[in-house]
Amino acid sequence: MSDAHRPTAREIAHEHLEAGDPLGWFEDVYSRAGGDDSLIPWADQAPNPNLVAWLEQAAAPASGSALNVGGGLGDDAEELARRGFVTTAFDISESAVAWSRARFPGSTVEYTAADLFHAPAEWRGRFDFVLESYTLQALPPGLRSDAIRCIASFVAPGGTLLVIARGREEEEPEGQMPWPLTRRELSLFDTHGLHQLTFDDYMDDEDPPVHRFRVTYGRA
Ligand SMILES: C[S@@+](CC[C@H](N)C(=O)[O-])C[C@H]1O[C@@H](n2cnc3c(N)ncnc32)[C@H](O)[C@@H]1O
Repeated sequence: MSDAHRPTAREIAHEHLEAGDPLGWFEDVYSRAGGDDSLIPWADQAPNPNLVAWLEQAAAPASGSALNVGGGLGDDAEELARRGFVTTAFDISESAVAWSRARFPGSTVEYTAADLFHAPAEWRGRFDFVLESYTLQALPPGLRSDAIRCIASFVAPGGTLLVIARGREEEEPEGQMPWPLTRRELSLFDTHGLHQLTFDDYMDDEDPPVHRFRVTYGRA
């Protein structure tokens, strides 16, 4: 198939979502891209600037174990490892995991395929720092409360969770995937033993700018 006829990630997602398969499209997108990262809409070949800006802040954790949820092609995990975290990155897509390993052959990051909803039991309460960026917004709203419970479970006592997502006000329409999150949805993290530490609500530097929520939580 020529590139001109390749379905876009949004089209692939739409097909799966229509068929009631909200998780299968990720592997389909990565495997059909055949190594061409221009076909992965969220792959920038650089760490997320919203993450980097946060890590530059004095209060950001500086070391320990880190878990990157839905790590994609690995740029954020590599950034965490570069800064000294002992980093694990997981993704539901085997192709994304293989692609990350191929991109960063000498990496100290442990790239592994796993489904957030069936993650290894030994990850429970194990990580000093958990990063979730842009995965929740790619999951249909009906899966989010379960996803939030699973993400929260990874945070160790004394640990920190950073969530970066598109944001919307309650009265704004849900729109299309990626579906922005509301403050009310994010407040579910507080029901799983975490407490909100900071809440950044801002327009980012993309063109056009995107409404972002960047939220940190701690576990006592
Ligand atoms: C929108 S992408 C964002 C990727 C990466 N965090 C980034 O910002 O570049 C969402 C990622 O989450 C992964 N993902 C989706 N559902 C998942 C699940 N249930 N368990 C693990 N990973 C999942 C997808 O394969 C995809 O790589």
